[in-house]
Amino acid sequence: TETIVVAVDGPAGSGKSSVSKAAARRLGWAYLDTGAAYRALSWYVVERQVDPTDAAAVIDALPDFDYRIGTDPATSHVYVGDTDVTEAIRTPEVTAVVSAIARVPEVRAFLTGLFRGIIRKTDRDGIVVEGRDITTVVCPDAPVRILLTADEAVRMARRSAELAGHSAAHVGEALRRRDEADARVVDFMNAADGVTTVDSTDLDFDQTVDAVIQVVQKAA
Ligand code: C5P
Repeated sequence: TETIVVAVDGPAGSGKSSVSKAAARRLGWAYLDTGAAYRALSWYVVERQVDPTDAAAVIDALPDFDYRIGTDPATSHVYVGDTDVTEAIRTPEVTAVVSAIARVPEVRAFLTGLFRGIIRKTDRDGIVVEGRDITTVVCPDAPVRILLTADEAVRMARRSAELAGHSAAHVGEALRRRDEADARVVDFMNAADGVTTVDSTDLDFDQTVDAVIQVVQKAA
């Protein structure tokens, strides 16, 4: 039987990674964080000393980008070649260049192909795939499509709590700038036709996971 795809999109700080991962664990399904690939490519570009704003140079780097990610929600490590970049892709330096990489159409097409290959190879009954354009571009035909949102102030507060030690104002500003840049490329603030919105503004973490699981159980 075919793998059930649960597509989850949303802005930065919506909690979509942790919520999607927890939902996958509870369902016993696989989990794919697509942002990790955009981040890993950004890390690779910086590592190769390619100018991230030089689209042609970034495109040149794609054939050598040897990306691997596990889809077990309990242990999803990220590799570029032999290097474990699981931690390195979360640094502010990588985060700062990822939007420039993500707006290159050839990059999006390349990574979309990679994601579809990973989804195809899933050996579990289902996979929760999370990002910005999963409900609209990567898996528009998925049987379950969710937009995870939360009010901006709540998203900023959650993200600053995660990044303890950084000033809330600085984190908020960086997040807002990244969302603005990303939203020019794909719309992840408004639910596309047939996409169910889960607003976590007034929900705690477990309640948000419950809400996602309910959408899955209703649809799948
Ligand atoms: O989700 P995360 O914050 O890790 O994503 C990092 C970046 O990757 C986003 O800011 C966006 O530029 C890009 N991205 C994307 N499409 C996706 C997932 C992530 O453009 N499906």
